[in-house]
Amino acid sequence: MKRPLRRSFAVLLLVVLVGAASFSAALRRAVAPAREEAPPPLDAARLNATLLRLAAADPSEALLRRDVDELLEGRLPASAARARAWRRDRLVHPLHLHHHRFPLPRRGGGRYPDDDHDVLLHPLPRHDQQQLHIDPALRRALRSWHRLRRYDPAVLGSLPSLLSLPRRVPTCAIVGNSGILLRANHGALIDSHDAVFRLNNARIAGYAAHVGTKTNFSFINSNILHLCARRPACFCHPYGHGVPILLYICQAAHFLDVAACNATSSSRHGSPISVTDARLDVLCARIVKYYSLRRFVTATGRAAEEWDRAHDAAMFHYSSGMQAIMVAVGVCDRVSVFGFGKSSDAKHHYHSNQKAELDLHDYEAEYAFYHDLAEQPQVVPFLKDAGFAVPPVVFYH
Ligand SMILES: *[C@@H]1O[C@H](CO)[C@@H](O)[C@H](O)[C@H]1NC(C)=O
Ligand SMILES: *[C@@H]1O[C@H](CO)[C@@H](O)[C@H](O)[C@H]1NC(C)=O
Ligand SMILES: *[C@@H]1O[C@H](CO)[C@@H](O)[C@H](O)[C@H]1NC(C)=O
Repeated sequence: MKRPLRRSFAVLLLVVLVGAASFSAALRRAVAPAREEAPPPLDAARLNATLLRLAAADPSEALLRRDVDELLEGRLPASAARARAWRRDRLVHPLHLHHHRFPLPRRGGGRYPDDDHDVLLHPLPRHDQQQLHIDPALRRALRSWHRLRRYDPAVLGSLPSLLSLPRRVPTCAIVGNSGILLRANHGALIDSHDAVFRLNNARIAGYAAHVGTKTNFSFINSNILHLCARRPACFCHPYGHGVPILLYICQAAHFLDVAACNATSSSRHGSPISVTDARLDVLCARIVKYYSLRRFVTATGRAAEEWDRAHDAAMFHYSSGMQAIMVAVGVCDRVSVFGFGKSSDAKHHYHSNQKAELDLHDYEAEYAFYHDLAEQPQVVPFLKDAGFAVPPVVFYH
């Protein structure tokens, strides 16, 4: 008798508890309607705040610190091999970098060096186990670059002195590589600017009417320099001797290429290589990530937090074109931009037959940024943190 009684008491207790719980839930619902079921849709301001927060996060920071430490200890970072495999998987090398190859001085057949199999005079060790020679100048350059890699939008104001310019440049032309350049004869207009910036070693010979002939700065990224470094004497200077090369670093191991090319550039080519201030990288990266996140959320309807995986966050970076535009914004009083943008009736690059776009960059996000930069620069996040007056920027199509 005892046990059934205890059991029915327990059942009764349970019924009372459940009843009380659902009553209080109902009460809560009645007091605060809709609060429990569906949270209100994120309004624009909250979404914007989320995008700004995510854009400020740098998922590659810890990895980069490890790479720098490994290099300083004389080991090739493991991520250098991973990046190579990543590029190979995406056919980046055959597609994108083909036109960056330069014919070698012919010694039996017009061979091109190959990223993974060439036996050229590359001065760097090819095996992960080999101890690297990191000389004091390289050690200093690597350390100070890494130390500067922080968010400091005021870097824009110091760009003229970082580029050793005595003063701001009145007018600058940035020449991108889009095939739309072939639709107009902007060559003379481009050359009429005080300074002309070119990108990724694009060829100009044979295209003077469309792209002009003058070059004051050559912008490349370190993936391209890495290929140049495999050529004898780092032969990668299509604009002639003395044109400074501005380079941003895609991975720490590329400092080895900088050192190799730096050593030859002073003797034979005389084109100084400047690694751009890492504070500019951080600023560019944040801006493009903000626009990329925004596009991701509106185009896919997915949560902004999923961007990292969708975009291979550790490999994602902005393009050389974006860096050139940011530098121009920092050093020029007026900026004209040529050869940016796609068109169904134009080739991808004016100087090659490359067809595909890479997923290394988010060009659509960069175009959205350029649009704001030209039309309403006051809304561009991060850029305005510097309290910096953006000069007029005009895009020629
Ligand atoms: C490149 O060479 C210049 C001048 O010789 C030197 O000041 C600079 O530290 C070198 N950079 C690197 C990364 O070795
Ligand atoms: C750009 O290069 C041209 C020569 O090619 C030179 O006359 C001009 O002064 C340079 N501009 C700047 C700002 O240094
Ligand atoms: C997002 O925030 C940035 C930075 O405060 C601001 O410049 C921009 O106008 C905002 N955009 C929207 C769509 O609210």
